[in-house]
Amino acid sequence: MAAIEMKNIVKKYGDGFPAVNDVSIDVEDGEFLILVGPSGCGKSTLLRMIVGLEDITDGDMMIGGKKVNDLAPRDRNLSMVFQNYALYPHLTVYENIAFPLRLANKPESEVDEKVREASKTLELDEHLERKPGNLSGGQRQRVAMGRAIVRDAEAFLFDEPLSNLDAKLRGQMRTEISRLQKRLGITTVYVTHDQTEAMTLGDRVAVLKRGVLQQHATPRELYENPANLFVAGFIGSPPMNFLPAKVTGNQVELPFGTLTIPEDKAAKAQDKGLLIAGIRPDHFEDASVMDADKVTDEATFNATVDVVEWLGNEAYAYIPFEAPPEVREQLTQLEKDLDGESMRTQLVISLDGASRISEGDDATIWVDARKIHLFDPATGENLTMDADNAGIVPGVEALAKAEEVGKEQDAVDPNAATT
Ligand SMILES: Nc1ncnc2c1ncn2[C@@H]1O[C@H](COP(=O)(O)OP(=O)(O)OP(=O)(O)O)[C@@H](O)[C@H]1O
Ligand SMILES: [Mg+2]
Repeated sequence: MAAIEMKNIVKKYGDGFPAVNDVSIDVEDGEFLILVGPSGCGKSTLLRMIVGLEDITDGDMMIGGKKVNDLAPRDRNLSMVFQNYALYPHLTVYENIAFPLRLANKPESEVDEKVREASKTLELDEHLERKPGNLSGGQRQRVAMGRAIVRDAEAFLFDEPLSNLDAKLRGQMRTEISRLQKRLGITTVYVTHDQTEAMTLGDRVAVLKRGVLQQHATPRELYENPANLFVAGFIGSPPMNFLPAKVTGNQVELPFGTLTIPEDKAAKAQDKGLLIAGIRPDHFEDASVMDADKVTDEATFNATVDVVEWLGNEAYAYIPFEAPPEVREQLTQLEKDLDGESMRTQLVISLDGASRISEGDDATIWVDARKIHLFDPATGENLTMDADNAGIVPGVEALAKAEEVGKEQDAVDPNAATT
């Protein structure tokens, strides 16, 4: 097993398009790293460069401290599991798992020992003599993983391995992959555009946008201290709310009212004009179900609730608002960057299941003002980020590269242009 180091990796395809743009990420020995981002951000390209299926235009790819840029895939000794698991239909499960060992001309005793060990780990014992065509999607996926395990590879690389499965099975397989990776302690790089997979599986997560690394941190750091609007909007479900905000002293003026925020946050956001405030749905609460001593006037506002979705343990309430044009433009762009992830003209708040707020009510809502983020609308930078707990954050100049690519794309694609 080995650490993987990507140093200033660049990939330009034939047409000069920078699919991966100066990305540096280190994956520690035994670590589970997630590469996440919207479609087309370069996740698969980066993974294919690690495994050797794609040439590296610039930068160094290091595996176990050794530069591998010019090594053929088979000499890198990595195991890759794809979205389409590509099992051999005419071979049994046993022979599918054994395949890489047969290729390497391993003796029969070793083949048998390794296949049985893998099948035990993956609970495939009773299916060993069956053909893949007769298995369920999850079982087939486990066979593909078995084939990856028997190789004693330096690392596992997964490209959206669960995206063909239904939601329930995806949940189960997620847990299995996590358990297996911990047990084997094998360095793993896992590509997904599903932020739930990113949050639950990864020791650390690298968020990409248009080929540029945005932040590389633990799931908790990403959730609590997103470096910019893009990461803030991408991580978390339902997504963070973004609202126009004006800061004066330690008061933040929002469409619903004015909140008092901590001095240190306010200090970072003085004299910046119109900002974008970010507040997660779970940092709101129905004031009437809270302890009275926690609720203060500086942290509550009244609003008319448009729609309520009650889920038993919690409820989501929707409150529409108007955003001024300066902010709306940035949020429309963000929505596009996030693959049209959400509606941004309404506040989504999560309430305790005990809340009795219903549609049309004028409710008193409490906000945890300590958890507010304030973003610069021009650069998207999180002005209130706690840098000590945000992992690796590339500089503003580095992030600007993604915007350049975006502008070029807009120029080429007339449908994408915003007015
Ligand atoms: N062979 C190629 N030639 C030219 N451009 C390519 C090629 N392969 C990928 N690209 C471009 O590189 C960018 C990154 O593609 P990549 O497949 O790495 O994205 P991804 O993050 O894996 O997306 P998805 O989530 O859709 O799989 C895309 O804009 C894509 O159009
Ligand atoms: Mg891909």
